[in-house]
Amino acid sequence: MSTTNSVLSQDALKTLVGLAALKYVVPGEIVGVGTGSTVNKFIDALATMKDQIKGAVSSSEASTERLKALGIPVFDAGEVAELSVYIDGADEIDSHGFMVKGGGAALTREKIVAAQSRRFVCIADASKLVQTLGKFPLPVEVIPMATTRVIRQFAAMGGTAQVRMKNGAPLVTDNGQHIVDVTGLSIVDPLAFESEVNQWPGVVTVGVFAHQKANVCLLGTDEGVKTLT
Ligand code: 5RP
Repeated sequence: MSTTNSVLSQDALKTLVGLAALKYVVPGEIVGVGTGSTVNKFIDALATMKDQIKGAVSSSEASTERLKALGIPVFDAGEVAELSVYIDGADEIDSHGFMVKGGGAALTREKIVAAQSRRFVCIADASKLVQTLGKFPLPVEVIPMATTRVIRQFAAMGGTAQVRMKNGAPLVTDNGQHIVDVTGLSIVDPLAFESEVNQWPGVVTVGVFAHQKANVCLLGTDEGVKTLT
């Protein structure tokens, strides 16, 4: 499938940025690894230099499985004080590095690993770059008991929230919680929005990454990888 106005396939663009991210990996250190199809390309590329790194801290069971299958040691977040770099994808990113994440339901662990990293490098194909966040349904991880109340709170903001389903039942995250996806929002002040929604009772994590924004974005385009800082 091609991205809008793109000659290269979305998959090819993901491969490009996954490879390009290797130059941000610090030899001899542990790297923070996100989740998703773009990150899978990065993990595959990382395997080619696995002898030069100590290992990875992973943001999901899925990434952990892939890392281990490729022979890359995985450390618990708590075993490592600080990471020099965290590499992850995004569902949307704006020119300030503010993002919407959580399409793969891994947003909480992603935010935790991002918070313990000095630098967040976002890898994304060009279709993810937006002017204003909010077109992609915003993922929010919630404690099931709070779901109805959280859905009402989004409705009061003009959004429509729906519980994410999998095989006919609510999807259960790696943390044992549920996800609601919210449409109809235009997130013009991501920092304020993230702070507000995060303090609603029962919200585990909102998928706006503004306080943990990207410091660098490697954007895959037909002209090659563009570096946005
Ligand atoms: C997972 C994420 C992913 O980074 C995001 O959904 C992008 O995924 P992909 O690279 O498959 O497009 O936040 O929770």
